[in-house]
Amino acid sequence: MLWFVGLGISGSKSIPVEALEVLSKADIVYLEQFTSPIGKSDMLKIKKMTKGEFKQGKRWLVEDGNEILKYAKTKRVVLLSYGDPYIATTHIELRTRAIQEKIKTYSIHASSSLTSMIGECGLHFYKVGRIATIMSEMKSLTTPYYVIYKNTIEGNHTVLLLEYNQDKDFFMDPKDALMGLIETEKGQKRNVIDLTTHAIVASRIGFKDQSIISGKISSLKKIDFGKPPHTIIITGRLHFTESDALKILGKCLDEPHDNSEKTKKISIQMMKKYVPMVREALEEITPYYKDQKEFKVILENAELYIQDAEKFLEDGQDEVAILSIGYADGLVDALRLAKGLEPKM
Ligand SMILES: C[S@@+](CC[C@H](N)C(=O)[O-])C[C@H]1O[C@@H](n2cnc3c(N)ncnc32)[C@H](O)[C@@H]1O
Repeated sequence: MLWFVGLGISGSKSIPVEALEVLSKADIVYLEQFTSPIGKSDMLKIKKMTKGEFKQGKRWLVEDGNEILKYAKTKRVVLLSYGDPYIATTHIELRTRAIQEKIKTYSIHASSSLTSMIGECGLHFYKVGRIATIMSEMKSLTTPYYVIYKNTIEGNHTVLLLEYNQDKDFFMDPKDALMGLIETEKGQKRNVIDLTTHAIVASRIGFKDQSIISGKISSLKKIDFGKPPHTIIITGRLHFTESDALKILGKCLDEPHDNSEKTKKISIQMMKKYVPMVREALEEITPYYKDQKEFKVILENAELYIQDAEKFLEDGQDEVAILSIGYADGLVDALRLAKGLEPKM
């Protein structure tokens, strides 16, 4: 049988009581540490709680899973992991494989760093959007950048986990992650992130030296965040109770603000550019047709399409708004071409 046991987020102290008996009766206990580091003294305390064999569950061993599954067919095996065992896709996959191989599985849940940090920062949990991980390789930052973009335009918060490599004892510094995102903005130009963006750095949540520091990136980039683990949260539209809580629960270097104000959907950005452009082109071409009544209806239709586009945008029907402004643009271009004028770009 195979037990998936969560350690919680406060070292050996947060191990669920029901896990103690399971640990003491297990033949083999694997301690997984590749999702977050576990301190030496905590590791020793956990080792003392186990009676059977105590092994390190390195990333390759858990991802491969064959050794764990082989033993779990005949022995009582425990996979102990930091936080909650199922906030790690590898563990879910291993459990699925175990069930497929007719191995009985059991779960003991515990608090997770991810859920705990949202509350510790004073944020509303239901406003958390898709979560992303930031890796040190620069080109991999495009994915988290677009995750922030989509979450922000919906007004949601983005949790950014930072790369941790147990073998290299490497944990990404929050400052490097933030600066990497600012570099990505230079290439992508979606107005997602800049030095004025408000962000939170949540460090060592659940530990005695937990810290929550928030502010503009320009202020955060001067801070030494100390020992890992760290997580960055790019806040979305903050409810006033969230801003109030954030200021009381953590250290605020700047007044929290709504990041979603500057980040607009691509369709809205396009409309801002095209509506005045098409309207100007229509005004310019109208005098050329003042004596040709048969074209009046086309000029009127172009104006109506522009008005429709504005109305659709107001109603949140962005795709239809783009379609309408496209029609107006097409009509105006045709009228310009007929008079030997270049279409407006
Ligand atoms: C895959 S997640 C951890 C999943 C774990 N099973 C759980 O439930 O907490 C690992 C990432 O979470 C973040 N993290 C973990 N523990 C943290 C803590 N105590 N404080 C802040 N961030 C933490 C780090 O960014 C780390 O790279």
